[in-house]
Amino acid sequence: MTIELRSVTEKNFVEWRKAVRQGFGIHVHPEDITRLRNDRAELDRLVAAIDTGSERIVGTGGADSYSLTVPGGAVIPMAGVAYMTTSVTHRRQGAFSRMMKQIHDESRELGDIVSGLWASQSHLYSRFDYGLAVNSYDWEIDPSFGSFSHSPISDDDESGAHVYFVDADEAAAMLPGIYEQMREQTAGSVDRTPGRWRYQLFDAERVRDGASALFFAICEEDGEQTGYVAYRMRRKGDTDMGVLEVVEQVSVTDTAHATMWRFLMNFDLVGKITATNRPADDPLWWMLSDPRRLDRTSHDALWVRLLDIPKALEARTYNADGQLKIGLVSDHQPAVAGTYVLEIDDSQASVKKTTDKPDVIMTPADLSAIYMGGATPGPLVEAGRIDTVSTGSLAKLHGMFSTDSAPWCAHYF
Ligand SMILES: CC(C)(COP(=O)(O)OP(=O)(O)OC[C@H]1O[C@@H](n2cnc3c(N)ncnc32)[C@H](O)[C@@H]1OP(=O)(O)O)[C@@H](O)C(=O)NCCC(=O)NCCS
Repeated sequence: MTIELRSVTEKNFVEWRKAVRQGFGIHVHPEDITRLRNDRAELDRLVAAIDTGSERIVGTGGADSYSLTVPGGAVIPMAGVAYMTTSVTHRRQGAFSRMMKQIHDESRELGDIVSGLWASQSHLYSRFDYGLAVNSYDWEIDPSFGSFSHSPISDDDESGAHVYFVDADEAAAMLPGIYEQMREQTAGSVDRTPGRWRYQLFDAERVRDGASALFFAICEEDGEQTGYVAYRMRRKGDTDMGVLEVVEQVSVTDTAHATMWRFLMNFDLVGKITATNRPADDPLWWMLSDPRRLDRTSHDALWVRLLDIPKALEARTYNADGQLKIGLVSDHQPAVAGTYVLEIDDSQASVKKTTDKPDVIMTPADLSAIYMGGATPGPLVEAGRIDTVSTGSLAKLHGMFSTDSAPWCAHYF
């Protein structure tokens, strides 16, 4: 029996999509196959692993085309790797590794500078030189403990910030503009095409898991829409203290953030608010009178691999000028191994390879982890992942790569 990698076409797309969902233990609804085809999937970026004996699909994978914001605000092309499965009948025969290689090779040819993914298992992707670039938090809070001791909104604030509810059609028109402003100013964020927005806001009963349909509210200040929340309610009857589940909350200003969370903490008949995928440095904790009441669970969000190391390093800005030689070691990509000189002048880097001795040595995965400021290099040195060769190199590395705020990827794919 051999496994062959083949294209995904209109003819085998349904079988491919069923195989993807089966890999995650899910039966796919026929309408959801059409939705994926129309609103998200790029056929020429998908791959199927076929058992040539049975001619059945036994492995799936692919990428969606994204634009990723990096520190400093530049936007670079990113392959959003997804759909990766191998049937349990054909596991550990290299299908996954071969599909990953093909996706990376094709993405590089298409001009992608990085690839990124959300991992179902956190031990799968370092072997392909992915590093954990964005971390996020899931929250729970009893809103009766939601009073603020601090707020960016002063008593004489004249922005007139206020919140109003909108229906699903209005939300579909308003949310993208607010998200787009957030994406432009937030490293780690990716674009949402109109198709992705339809996919995101799809709200049939089968995706609600017993909760209400989505509710939407907008924050407006000085006539500008500066924030939104999409949430569901989960309540068992008129007297139940239910759960308000924040599906997505985006703010463009500090005032919008404070106004939105003030609004969310104000509901009667809510005993708990949950929110998923909140930014690692969200200021809410620092605003609460009793911050321990905000229960935060950390989880890995976006994993990143630098497909073109010089271009990726040159795309972002840096916090300190100077020169640093970074030695990269990689079993997976011998071609990228070597030493790179990073010359930073006026926050911008120029990068070239050198035969000089490096100041620091790491894998491309660890470079990816610090690339957007999501991880600071100190703990990676302490963990034995980054080796500091020359005196003062950790301080230099830290000073150059640190960012004013943590990266955040609001879009799960
Ligand atoms: C994860 C999965 C795609 C791996 O597929 P596969 O074809 O068996 O993987 P490969 O044979 O190419 O193995 C690649 C390497 O990963 C390792 N590996 C793969 N899955 C692993 C797992 N679950 N646990 C530990 N190691 C694993 C293999 O041992 C191999 O290691 P090596 O390179 O050191 O030899 C497959 O098991 C699967 O579909 N799982 C369920 C869906 C899922 O989690 N997908 C990932 C989506 S983000």
